[in-house]
Amino acid sequence: MKKIQISPSILSADFSQLGNEIKRLEQAGADLIHVDVMDGHFVPNLTIGPPVIKALKKNCSLKFDVHLMISPVHKYIEAYADAGSDIITIHPEATGDLGASISKIKELNIMAGVSLNPETNVSVIKEYLNQVDLVLIMSVNPGFGGQKFMPEVLNKIKELKNIQKEQNLNFDIEIDGGINFENSKIAIKAGANILVSGTTIFKSNNGDIKKNIDLLKSI
Ligand code: DX5
Ligand code: ZN
Repeated sequence: MKKIQISPSILSADFSQLGNEIKRLEQAGADLIHVDVMDGHFVPNLTIGPPVIKALKKNCSLKFDVHLMISPVHKYIEAYADAGSDIITIHPEATGDLGASISKIKELNIMAGVSLNPETNVSVIKEYLNQVDLVLIMSVNPGFGGQKFMPEVLNKIKELKNIQKEQNLNFDIEIDGGINFENSKIAIKAGANILVSGTTIFKSNNGDIKKNIDLLKSI
């Protein structure tokens, strides 16, 4: 069984203090930093781009788990790699050639992830699973933090686990959206090994992020 990792989403952080927030997360025991990049086109929200990631990376030794909710995505992959991304996750709907975009990420020596929106089936990415390092299962429709968890997506995690067994694959399974102290246990049981959380980590227990990270990790 893979070690459970916590990847806090900085979308719920204090954007006026992002450098300090990243430091707080590192000190609180986060395993990764989940950076939600949104372009106001693929999703109806706009966040940060390569220059901010580059600046934040200086303050942090944790790996940056960069979730690109942008389209078209292919021509921007290099810029996010140069900015310091350690994992780049893209959405199949955001590229005209998913295989080529995955190869582009791998050529840049970055871990490649693909993300499935709630309504997108595993079949869309099945032929690429032997090329990726991570599959990100969205448990909300992308664009905003603080949404309600959609339990129906857990079936996709179970389907991915079966494919892993059949094809002897070992990619990480990350779940993202509406994760809290109850559904985190169900997601882990289904087979997720990386939990993304924004609201639960930054807002629960009076914002005690160390306590919240520890609670999410405790199976
Ligand atoms: C939504 C983002 C998620 C979101 C998670 O589009 O991809 O990472 O920020 O935030 P919570 O945990 O508040 O749902
Ligand atoms: Zn995300």
